[in-house]
Amino acid sequence: MSLYGRLFARFYDRTLAVSEEAGLAARRAAVLAKARGRVLELGAGTGLNLAHYDAATVTELVLTEPEEPMLRRLIPRASAGDPRASAVRAPAEELPFADASFETVVSTLTLCTVDDLAAALAEARRVLTPGGRLLFLEHVRAGDAREARRQDRLAPLWRRVGHGCHPNRDTLAAIEAAGLKIEHVEHDRFPKAPRIVAPLISGSAVRPS
Ligand SMILES: C[S@@+](CC[C@H](N)C(=O)[O-])C[C@H]1O[C@@H](n2cnc3c(N)ncnc32)[C@H](O)[C@@H]1O
Repeated sequence: MSLYGRLFARFYDRTLAVSEEAGLAARRAAVLAKARGRVLELGAGTGLNLAHYDAATVTELVLTEPEEPMLRRLIPRASAGDPRASAVRAPAEELPFADASFETVVSTLTLCTVDDLAAALAEARRVLTPGGRLLFLEHVRAGDAREARRQDRLAPLWRRVGHGCHPNRDTLAAIEAAGLKIEHVEHDRFPKAPRIVAPLISGSAVRPS
């Protein structure tokens, strides 16, 4: 892992703190309120979602994360919180789980960073039970053409700053292209964040039965 990757993980929570306080944490809570049954989280990072799962509706929580510096922070948080939570090292594109084995898959601020968006979503669909839900909170490509062009221009630089983050992905279209049916979506702005990552979507998509 690069030095930047280690620093990114070390300062991740501090970097996001202002946004979390300004409303991002509330958006996480609103999205995760729909988590049910056996839940899989993609690219769980340092575990900022852990506080938002409802123990009454989540029977098991499997947190995946491919990067070692993130995992080092995630594992103690996961094991300190809930005995039903565990952390597994895995990229979203190759999930080491059986078909149709989770009622809920969660991605928050992760689909911008996965190497292969279509492969990650195909895996999410594969591991979901029929009728199961993908819950998402993602910054995305702007709907406004001028803002999107600006994202395109700055994307190569931002990929370095954001440790692999693509600011200009049309994630909603990719979710639909993966065969998941959008059930609910809200368009919003990432609170207190640079403009390049401001367009935000949150909601749920269902794996058809
Ligand atoms: C911006 S962070 C988001 C972390 C967390 N989901 C959150 O909401 O705070 C992006 C995360 O995606 C992870 N990541 C990078 N490549 C990935 C991949 N191929 N599959 C899954 N996660 C990946 C990173 O290690 C990092 O933890």
